[in-house]
Amino acid sequence: MRPFDAEHAAKYDQTFAKLAPWAESLRLAAHCALAELPSEAHLLCVGAGTGAELAFFAEHFPGWRFTALDPSGAMLERCRVRMDEGGFVERCTYHEGYLDDLTTTETFDGATSLLVSQFVVDRTRRVDFFRQIRNRVRPGAPLVTADLCLGRAQGGRALVPLWQQAWRYAGIPEERVRALETGALDEMLSIVTSEAYASLLTEAGWQEPVQVFQAVMMHGWATTA
Ligand SMILES: C[S@@+](CC[C@H](N)C(=O)[O-])C[C@H]1O[C@@H](n2cnc3c(N)ncnc32)[C@H](O)[C@@H]1O
Repeated sequence: MRPFDAEHAAKYDQTFAKLAPWAESLRLAAHCALAELPSEAHLLCVGAGTGAELAFFAEHFPGWRFTALDPSGAMLERCRVRMDEGGFVERCTYHEGYLDDLTTTETFDGATSLLVSQFVVDRTRRVDFFRQIRNRVRPGAPLVTADLCLGRAQGGRALVPLWQQAWRYAGIPEERVRALETGALDEMLSIVTSEAYASLLTEAGWQEPVQVFQAVMMHGWATTA
């Protein structure tokens, strides 16, 4: 199984089902950060995955339209099914690919990137990832972004054992839980301190971000273009 391939996509929601209260709380924080967007806003959802945040926003903001972007066709297909089942079929456009190859010239009113940039491991490319989102939105537009971050205490490693417990609670295999501390996930996952994360955003041209959510290592941030 490779990250976000068909097998992973089929299991994705179920794998993290026991951590759903945190994901729901993150979406609630995102809701608060985006609530002042116009009633007919167009939101760019980068790394839409299986569509959890899209369906949530579609339900709460009935005038919004969405562009859902994800390089994984298998994840995006699940997103499409979820949106169709929610009755939101008319309001979403799908892009299977990256920001580089998003052809629309539309300027978005806001953007989200929930648990996505951590998979862009190279720092320069990660700054560019956020810069590309910045270039797609109107001046002053909000971005809500979330990723796993290290804590501030004990050289930043204090939260790792707690996150390992969260993964055990969720039923993630022990080999993968241990990989968090051995660095075995470093090739596919970049986890930086909160300060380093804020720098990624400001280097990419975003205003100084405000931390709006934390559940152990899952940190949520709001900023504006
Ligand atoms: C952990 S999932 C999160 C999905 C969803 N945002 C959520 O919170 O449930 C990460 C998603 O980001 C996508 N992804 C990975 N690298 C990406 C990139 N460079 N640009 C856009 N999406 C990416 C993956 O295919 C996957 O669907």
